[in-house]
Amino acid sequence: MDTKEAAPRKTALVIGANGVIGGNLIEYLEQLPDWDIIGVSRRGGDSSGRARYIAVDLLNEGDTREKLGILSQVTHIFYAAYQDRPTWAELVPPNLAMLVNVVNAIEPNAPKLQHISLMQGYKVYGAHLGPFKTPARETDAYHMPPEFNVDQQQFLEQRQRGSNWTWTALRPSVVCGFALGNPMNLAMVIAIYASISKELGLPLRFPGKPGAYNSLLEMTDAGLLSRATVWAATDERCANQAFNITNGDLFRWNELWPKIAFNFGLETAPPLQMSLEVVMADKEELWKTMVEKHGLVSNSYKDVSSWRFGDFVFSWDYDFFADGTKARRFGFHEFIDTEAMFLNIFDDLRRRKVIP
Ligand SMILES: NC(=O)c1ccc[n+]([C@@H]2O[C@H](COP(=O)([O-])OP(=O)(O)OC[C@H]3O[C@@H](n4cnc5c(N)ncnc54)[C@H](OP(=O)(O)O)[C@@H]3O)[C@@H](O)[C@H]2O)c1
Repeated sequence: MDTKEAAPRKTALVIGANGVIGGNLIEYLEQLPDWDIIGVSRRGGDSSGRARYIAVDLLNEGDTREKLGILSQVTHIFYAAYQDRPTWAELVPPNLAMLVNVVNAIEPNAPKLQHISLMQGYKVYGAHLGPFKTPARETDAYHMPPEFNVDQQQFLEQRQRGSNWTWTALRPSVVCGFALGNPMNLAMVIAIYASISKELGLPLRFPGKPGAYNSLLEMTDAGLLSRATVWAATDERCANQAFNITNGDLFRWNELWPKIAFNFGLETAPPLQMSLEVVMADKEELWKTMVEKHGLVSNSYKDVSSWRFGDFVFSWDYDFFADGTKARRFGFHEFIDTEAMFLNIFDDLRRRKVIP
């Protein structure tokens, strides 16, 4: 007789379900037997799989309360929504308001709530502002505000006091994985840039700052991040802690770029600094002809391009990495080879007929 009791079922509320992070998290949760999954975003989604989707505008307090306040079964909130804005200061109000609206809607109505997981990034360390201390550690002092990631964490810390649930904060580097229509998607930037370079018979030129080609950086695979996020949310040793989550290796574009070019059947030429947002602005018609010519799924040019984010990442002419050992010390031991990660994502994009 099997004396093992089945693990109690858990209900994940994934906020930001269409994002590069939220979408990959749902895909991972769907593989686990003991989770029910509810995905939340403005666009909603197709509820035919194991996840069901709710379309909500989290900036609208009333809409959020009405649609999420009835979800009394939620045990875990995974918060990975994001509102893009042109300046760091403008990011604060909408991104804090969305988290507050979610917690206000769920917490009083979900008595079994155990955990709130907050997705952050190296902005906590000021990585977006300029050369920052590397390796960045979870214990590093905060920088001068405005910083929405810190405001979000402080809100959760205050709200958690005296309650039965715990929080974790996950701090990945640049996150790489499949997603469409996202403002921050580096793998897609490279894949579309390389595909268009090929279509035009051009070599693959690194478009970033000269120093960025040689600086040391790291990435975070979206699948690895999903597994780390669920681990941290369910291992009680991690309660009320922040963790850097990284692939575990470092690289320089000067070594990786030629390998990416080779994967696309391209030569490389010396780097040439240019703004992708500017030079790729007129490539929409070309993209449409490529979709037709190569029999691709007809994704709009807007949905496959996040050139501003590409310009941002390729401007980092300083080291960009964090210490990933805290998560290992607490029990998460996975790592991923970054070169293999990029090549796997490009293969996946070809299989999905997103690129030729
Ligand atoms: N991408 C990266 O490389 C990266 C790296 C490190 C850290 N991070 C951090 O991780 C977090 C998530 O980033 P991400 O790149 O996964 O973002 P993303 O791809 O832009 O996804 C954001 C999600 O939020 C939803 N959303 C936006 N506004 C909403 C609203 N008003 N109401 C309901 N849903 C809304 C979007 O769906 P709809 O459009 O359907 O509403 C989408 O599902 C952010 O805090 C980001 O700073 C990202």
